[in-house]
Amino acid sequence: MPQTQNKPIAVVALCGSLREGSSTHAALRIALSGAEEVGAAVELLELGAYQLVFQGSVSNEADYPPDVFALREKVKRADGILLGSPEYHGSFSGVLKSALDLMGFAEFEDKVIGLVGVSGGRMGAANALSMLRIVGTALRAWVVPNDVSIPRSSEAFDAHGNLHDAELAARVKSVGRDVALFAAMHNQTPEQKT
Ligand SMILES: Cc1cc2nc3c(=O)[nH]c(=O)nc-3n(C[C@H](O)[C@H](O)[C@H](O)COP(=O)(O)O)c2cc1C
Repeated sequence: MPQTQNKPIAVVALCGSLREGSSTHAALRIALSGAEEVGAAVELLELGAYQLVFQGSVSNEADYPPDVFALREKVKRADGILLGSPEYHGSFSGVLKSALDLMGFAEFEDKVIGLVGVSGGRMGAANALSMLRIVGTALRAWVVPNDVSIPRSSEAFDAHGNLHDAELAARVKSVGRDVALFAAMHNQTPEQKT
């Protein structure tokens, strides 16, 4: 079981779609179950439940709504982070970008992160994923090599949020599992590593 200082590894997920019945949300749930299966404590942070602001729209940070600080704190406490986004106009969603822009190195530096993308079209979410990879690197996080894209999202899931394609589901799970396992390895003290 991956642990850090005798606590289970904590993995949170941020979802770049606020849509009811979002397939990104469903995909992140599957990825989190992969982290949970190897013993991580997991939480999907619902961005819609937080009262956020656009970066720069409030001149003094002290005047930010408390939810901004609450979200930052949840991410700061996590050992691993999953970022999920729909492909929107050849990139990742503004909802996720806006949330990320309220955070920085304090939340992401040296964390292990994993990426999950969904797209309406058959070409997948490769652009969203590669741009999120760049953002992860800019935030000095360790982005796991194994990311996953779910094309044709409207047909990919059943009514319970499960993927029809078992191989794809296993791959989504493996992203969550890798984040938990690499975060555990990354957090080991030098003594534990020997
Ligand atoms: C503003 C917008 C832009 C989109 N751009 C693309 C796109 O470039 N490529 C694509 O395959 N699908 C595109 N889609 C479709 C979404 O990727 C698809 O509906 C996805 O399932 C939405 O994620 P969700 O189910 O988590 O809300 C777009 C949808 C919206 C609303």
